[in-house]
Amino acid sequence: LSPSSCHTCTMDVERQRICDVKGVPLISSMHEIFGRVEKFQAKADDILIATYPKAGTTWMIEIMDSIRQGGITKEITTIPSHERTPFLELISFCFGVSSGVDLLKDMPSPRLVKTHLPFQLVPQSFWDKGCKVIYVARNAKDILVSYFFFHKITPILPHAGTWDDFFESFLSGNVVWGSWFDHVTGWWDVREKHQILYVFYEDILQDPMREVERVARFLGHTLDNGTIQEIVKHTSFNMMKDNPMTNFSRMPTCIVDVRISPFMRKGQVGDWKNHFTVAQNQRFEEEYRRRMAKTSLRFRTEL
Ligand code: A3P
Repeated sequence: LSPSSCHTCTMDVERQRICDVKGVPLISSMHEIFGRVEKFQAKADDILIATYPKAGTTWMIEIMDSIRQGGITKEITTIPSHERTPFLELISFCFGVSSGVDLLKDMPSPRLVKTHLPFQLVPQSFWDKGCKVIYVARNAKDILVSYFFFHKITPILPHAGTWDDFFESFLSGNVVWGSWFDHVTGWWDVREKHQILYVFYEDILQDPMREVERVARFLGHTLDNGTIQEIVKHTSFNMMKDNPMTNFSRMPTCIVDVRISPFMRKGQVGDWKNHFTVAQNQRFEEEYRRRMAKTSLRFRTEL
């Protein structure tokens, strides 16, 4: 396959291979820099947003940032979301061949940090410093669909293959950032040991006012009703889809190329029904029951 060229750094971008990092599949560039990620020194007022890919990370980032800034400020409307919230384990030529770790060094506090790492790979300093963490979880079926389409617009991720191929890779955990089952249950199990707020994508969609208020309370902010309403409006799917600061149109194309297809794709619960075959759904349910048998964690796959 021929490499594509990034419109920002003009480097040729090639798909990376999956590399094992302490039992978790990541991509080769993350494998190379992982030693530096592990040693990252968090500060006590850092806020970590942790998710499995496609769980609503960008959505929660916009909610959190609007909350901590007390509403929709100039910074929020003029700086792309990915610049306001460095991605801890990502390395890119566009950022001067540097990783989120390097970008964070020059950032004023309080810093918002994004990661897709499973709990056990998060740098120890976040726990030593008692940082607040928001974990967003989304049901596996919609994640599977969203992640499949995301591979098409992300030139550095390995090839997803066909829908059937990706379905099997996802169920076996052989995708970048590993098994969804391990990720969501791993974070669920430790939520009470640390300052972790566990939020569900489906809950935000169902009652955004309630969830924004809940996040604000956790972050130690009291917002009036008008500001919460303003944040809910600003972070609605349609607003974020049309907003160049949040729809990834300002993202270097070596990381996400929205010229191929939009990052803000559907933003719904239950899109899996348009993609799963009856047999796939049966197979998925069997595996789901087996993998989730021992956890109290529950998801909704429709609203
Ligand atoms: P779909 O592909 O199902 O549409 P992440 O930011 O973790 O990569 O997640 C991306 C997913 O969240 C995409 O899902 C995207 O459309 C959805 N999303 C982003 N902003 C949203 C919003 N404001 N409301 C609902 N869904 C949103």
